[in-house]
Amino acid sequence: MNSSPEAALNVHNLGVIFRDASGVVHALHDLTFSLPPNGFVALIGPSGCGKSTLLRVLAGLVSPTAGTVRYNTAQPRIGMVFQKANLMPWRRVIDNISLPLELKRLPRSEILARAQDLIRLVGLEGFERAYPRDLSGGMAQRVAIARALMQDPDILLLDEPFGALDALTRERMGDELLHIWHAHQKTVVLVTHSIPEAVYLSDRILALSARPGSIILDMPVDLARPRTPEMRYSKTFQQLTHQLRDTLQEANGLVT
Ligand SMILES: Nc1ncnc2c1ncn2[C@@H]1O[C@H](COP(=O)(O)OP(=O)(O)O)[C@@H](O)[C@H]1O
Ligand SMILES: [Mg+2]
Repeated sequence: MNSSPEAALNVHNLGVIFRDASGVVHALHDLTFSLPPNGFVALIGPSGCGKSTLLRVLAGLVSPTAGTVRYNTAQPRIGMVFQKANLMPWRRVIDNISLPLELKRLPRSEILARAQDLIRLVGLEGFERAYPRDLSGGMAQRVAIARALMQDPDILLLDEPFGALDALTRERMGDELLHIWHAHQKTVVLVTHSIPEAVYLSDRILALSARPGSIILDMPVDLARPRTPEMRYSKTFQQLTHQLRDTLQEANGLVT
């Protein structure tokens, strides 16, 4: 894929090699792709293939050892969500969500209004004053997503955000995420281990090989929006999951 000036992000010949006392790890090798603005891209591949490293590079937390990452805005705002919500246990829900803007010293009334809007968006009304210990895993992840949206990021990076949730909660959170994405229209990159989750949520799937991760499949997901749970039983859905599973198995052995 060639780089495109309209893309939210262009990644060109990206490579990452870690060197530390224990040796050298080739984490990522020669990745080239671009992400359209407001697109929803899933990233899938075996454990240790460099998915988290790629997100960290996109977030500017790790420097590439080869290639380039270019955003179409000078200082892109980036929101990140991890498998663990990492909430501050001594802060109430609303204060956890407010934190990123508190650090920017905006007026309190403005911060609270925005946090309240996001609480509504992620379906946590009534829990504003709850502490993290009183939340289920799914609720804690909603707080983490709301917190990531507080700074109105240009791109939302999600690293296996539903990995610790049970299957049904996970599916519900997927629908919630789509609802949030429709409302916010951000570029989303979601790392997942789940083939059906990748197909259900995204417009496009990048599948990575085992380490060093390189792109073995760049697959458009030709399913209508909005997605509905019944689509999981459609022929197209089955074909897409099949193709993705075959590719990953061929390259890497079983993934999920
Ligand atoms: N800071 C680091 N220093 C050295 N090796 C690292 C570092 N971060 C990740 N790695 C290694 O890079 C490889 C890819 O890791 P990671 O991106 O976490 O994979 P994934 O998220 O796909 O499971 C792994 O072998 C991991 O041990
Ligand atoms: Mg990871």
